[in-house]
Amino acid sequence: MGKRDALIERFDRETERMGVRIRDADQMKVSENVFDDITLLSLYRLVHKKKIQEIGGPISTGKEANVFYGVGEEMPIAIKIYRIQSANFRSMSEYIVGDPRFSSVKRAKKDLIFAWTKKEYSNLARAHDAGIRVPRPVHFDRNILLMEFMGEDEVAYPQLRLSRPDDYQAVYDEITAAMKTLFNEAELVHADLSEFNILWDGEHPIIIDIGQAVTPNHPKAIAFLVRDIKNINRYFANRCTVRDEEELFRDIVGEHRMEI
Ligand SMILES: Nc1ncnc2c1ncn2[C@@H]1O[C@H](COP(=O)(O)OP(=O)(O)OP(=O)(O)O)[C@@H](O)[C@H]1O
Ligand SMILES: [Mg+2]
Repeated sequence: MGKRDALIERFDRETERMGVRIRDADQMKVSENVFDDITLLSLYRLVHKKKIQEIGGPISTGKEANVFYGVGEEMPIAIKIYRIQSANFRSMSEYIVGDPRFSSVKRAKKDLIFAWTKKEYSNLARAHDAGIRVPRPVHFDRNILLMEFMGEDEVAYPQLRLSRPDDYQAVYDEITAAMKTLFNEAELVHADLSEFNILWDGEHPIIIDIGQAVTPNHPKAIAFLVRDIKNINRYFANRCTVRDEEELFRDIVGEHRMEI
């Protein structure tokens, strides 16, 4: 029996013993590029720690990660699994290198992914603590991030690009206010903000996918903030009145001294 088969057998035994429901166990077993050995072991640990009670269906397959619906400690969760096989590390290291919180990150592929997952967890925690609408982070283990599920009845809220809010002006104002709070209270620049990484719950925007966010002292923080502003303004330009880019930039940054 191969190593992976042995792992799966152990995983099956443990999930059965713990009464953990897996929606599509067979699919999981054949999806080797997502559920590789490391991922199976991490899932096994999360099940063992009772952080996962159910692994539901897939919500999304992105460039670097797969997101699944799940049930955690008596609450719905999103299970985000960074793929160790096919992740885009060149672009990841651009964000991690230069961030003083991750100065000791080894270049090794796996370590980079683990650091990335941890970074998304800590970025979510900082944003959440600052009062911004983001999924509350629940737990992480290696390349797996567990967070609050943003949706209803197992269906994730739609991305903003697929939503039709009644009052775009209010949404724009809320997003730009969140960018300011993110910068000043959480001390983060999102760095990939767009209608793809904002969900719409019917009343408010929710910011997601915050793994690449950097602190204001990151060498590219200004460039990333300018890009975020341009992206948001581009999306809202023909939907409501948008603010002047420079004025918005100055308002967000305020008195903060940026290292250029
Ligand atoms: N906490 C959550 N609750 C509900 N749905 C979520 C949650 N997080 C992510 N999703 C869903 O999964 C999709 C992808 O998530 P996210 O943007 O974080 O990853 P990604 O774009 O695939 O990341 P990457 O591009 O780095 O691979 C989202 O658009 C959303 O539909
Ligand atoms: Mg995304």
